[in-house]
Amino acid sequence: MSKQDTRTSHDPQGLQRRQLLATAASLGLAPWLLSACASQAAAPVAGAPRDRTAGQRRKLGPFEVYPVGLGCQWHPGSVPGAVLDAYHSGFDRPAAVALIRRAVERGVTLIDTAEAYGPFLSEEIVGEALQGLRDKVVLETKFGFDIDLKTGKRLGVQNSRPEHIKQVVEAQLRRLRTDRIDVLIQHRVDPQVPIEEVVGAVKDLVAEGKVLHYGLSEPGVQTIRRAHAELPLAVIQNEYSMLWRGPEAQVLPVCEELGIGFVCWSPLGMGFLTGSVQADSRFETSPDMDFRAMVPRFAPEALPANMALVKVVKHWAERKSATPAQLALAWLLAQKPWIVPIPGTTKIAHMEENLGAAAIRFTPEELRQLNTDVVAVTIQGARLPPAVMVLSGVEAPLKR
Ligand SMILES: NC(=O)c1ccc[n+]([C@@H]2O[C@H](COP(=O)([O-])OP(=O)(O)OC[C@H]3O[C@@H](n4cnc5c(N)ncnc54)[C@H](OP(=O)(O)O)[C@@H]3O)[C@@H](O)[C@H]2O)c1
Repeated sequence: MSKQDTRTSHDPQGLQRRQLLATAASLGLAPWLLSACASQAAAPVAGAPRDRTAGQRRKLGPFEVYPVGLGCQWHPGSVPGAVLDAYHSGFDRPAAVALIRRAVERGVTLIDTAEAYGPFLSEEIVGEALQGLRDKVVLETKFGFDIDLKTGKRLGVQNSRPEHIKQVVEAQLRRLRTDRIDVLIQHRVDPQVPIEEVVGAVKDLVAEGKVLHYGLSEPGVQTIRRAHAELPLAVIQNEYSMLWRGPEAQVLPVCEELGIGFVCWSPLGMGFLTGSVQADSRFETSPDMDFRAMVPRFAPEALPANMALVKVVKHWAERKSATPAQLALAWLLAQKPWIVPIPGTTKIAHMEENLGAAAIRFTPEELRQLNTDVVAVTIQGARLPPAVMVLSGVEAPLKR
């Protein structure tokens, strides 16, 4: 059986979508209309079997998803076969596959990964795990770093040139074992490439049916507006949690104004909000680095003051009969009805615990009090090391 045959035989929605695209193309319809047709035909939730979590859905741009997603950001560890997250938690590939499959069985519908995670390894694991489950999820992946397409070696920092984006997507489709990416996200704005050129490449991929929607991660606000004017954005994916509330100033209002969904990365503050970090915690630097060892807000001089936020989380978790992780995720869900966190974990028990956040409700008075408590804590230390920080809030250059 050819690759194309294999895809369509397992993917009746995909076949229907491609037929729609072919019809629309032959009628000379605009790319955004093609995109709209594609998203209708491939709406991942419609027609899915009802499950325990049915009814717990929220709008995320053009999608309807379970309120808590799953982040799949893993890389090879120094021990052969080990798969590690950024914070020194590890498992192996079969366990990672099992975690994703269990999450989808439990009703998770938003799965996030990226070319750069591994590189390639996380997409390969997600592709393996989603065999037979692909139509149940909204699959997000990202491009944007300068990674050799064959070896996975980093060549430079960023690369969002249109021809490179198209090559990356071809490789991603192979690794993810799918015929389409539901949301293709630019993994940080490239200061060398006008956003209009990036969106031009996305439009071509949408017209070909390889990408259904797109998003930006940590963009400058004007870049959001410029991209959205070219082709409506589905999501913005930024860091947002009780530990980092930066998006509240400008990015969330723009998303609200333009109807763009918001996905929060590091929604548990890189594990800090779960109560697993102490004032005297120190983070591994070798042989496998815990990313927090490089992050100023986790430095020995910052941690003791920052523990005041953990105290707030624990107090409110007790008050709401929840765990700290659930409380931190429920706080995000309560901020806007179009926000979806993607907590990362290496443990099925933690994943299942995190899904419980969707059931927690705050009265308006509780939310007011909780927000007041959160705002009262001033976090010490920057959220990212300087070399990573410079990739955030970047405005793309104007069209040449
Ligand atoms: N767009 C971007 O630039 C960007 C950047 C970073 C991340 N992301 C995405 O965002 C996702 C999540 O971010 P993240 O992994 O950095 O941070 P996170 O979700 O805030 O925290 C993950 C940490 O929390 C722990 N954890 C999770 N659930 C727990 C629970 N119920 N109880 C106790 N500990 C728990 C995990 O350890 P255990 O394994 O022990 O559970 C892990 O150490 C990533 O997977 C990735 O998809 C995107």
